[in-house]
Amino acid sequence: MDFSFYVPTKILFGRGKIKEAGFYAKGIGRKALVVTGKSSAKKTGSLEKLAKSLEEHGVEWVLFDKVEPNPLTTTIDRGAQLARESKVDLVIGLGGGSAMDTAKGIAFAAVNDGPIANYMEGKSGEKALPLILIPTTAGTGSEANNIAVMTNPATMAKKGFRNQSIFAKVSLVDPELTETMPPRVTASTGIDAFFHALESYLSLKSQPFSEILSLKAIELIFENLPKAVNAEDKESRDAMALASTMAGMAIGQSGVCALHGLEHPLSSYYGAPHGEGLAPLAKAFLRFVRPYTEDKLAKVAKIMKLPIEGLSKEKAAEKAIEAVEDLIESLGLPTSISYFGAKKEDVEKLAQNVKNYMVHNIANTPGNPDYEKIKAMYLESL
Ligand SMILES: [Fe+2]
Repeated sequence: MDFSFYVPTKILFGRGKIKEAGFYAKGIGRKALVVTGKSSAKKTGSLEKLAKSLEEHGVEWVLFDKVEPNPLTTTIDRGAQLARESKVDLVIGLGGGSAMDTAKGIAFAAVNDGPIANYMEGKSGEKALPLILIPTTAGTGSEANNIAVMTNPATMAKKGFRNQSIFAKVSLVDPELTETMPPRVTASTGIDAFFHALESYLSLKSQPFSEILSLKAIELIFENLPKAVNAEDKESRDAMALASTMAGMAIGQSGVCALHGLEHPLSSYYGAPHGEGLAPLAKAFLRFVRPYTEDKLAKVAKIMKLPIEGLSKEKAAEKAIEAVEDLIESLGLPTSISYFGAKKEDVEKLAQNVKNYMVHNIANTPGNPDYEKIKAMYLESL
């Protein structure tokens, strides 16, 4: 056994934690760039709560609210320019994965030369402005890892940029902030968290500490996501916020697999919301990995409390896959990639994008699918 586990982020969990943002910001910097999406932080009141706390503690702030759903490297570069011009010494990301990942990218790009796309493609750099992250969805888990997913519009590559410098100093996980999500967003962000948990568990890089997090997150999400989507239920919101942070931490250590690898081109080419894009690919992905991961999938079936007593590992693994398919269907998520506009003749282009840009996700995948297998998974998902 050979692994490392590194999460240098102070994570504060609890209802109302956003009120402490100013206190922690004051301990880190003098002036903050607050990074949000275009409207929801304003509409839901979360930006107002953050602003109040910053002002109470005498922290100056400027707003960058240009984040799009699948953030572009060019948007990050614009935010970095504003960060430099405004002479901020701290970046605060408030929102879903897009806002937090943009904040991470800006914190890095503000103090490194040249466009962020170069670093996403492998140029080295090691410093960033300090970060505070405040999730308002229960999905990405970005608050607990050093990954920022971004799309380079010049190449259509949607990739995770990883750097030690973009771990948040402090993450405030406040489940109350997730209560304003509409059911559709709760479902799509929640299924993203579920696949972070499942893929990090199945990943060839899984390890004892991340496995504990992955399995607990699978258990919590399987039980609580339908409740969070269908009812105004505080406990299920709390459970989802906790699980998404756990799963985010797990992928930071052990990565994701081909399912995320195959989804990214759907976001790049068709603008598929990330969680919705994962849903219709899950069946083909799980059927591909099953022969290599039967023990783990049987354990997943057990964690999900499925009736598997007396069943062989093979059958128990199948039950787990069926339960995931049922979960996706019950949440009303897409079950075919044609929903986003993908056609049979696009499969070559999608698989080529995976081959070019998602090599690390494929390398983490049990069974290491080759180009033909990737194509087959897309075809099965049409
Ligand atoms: Fe994801």
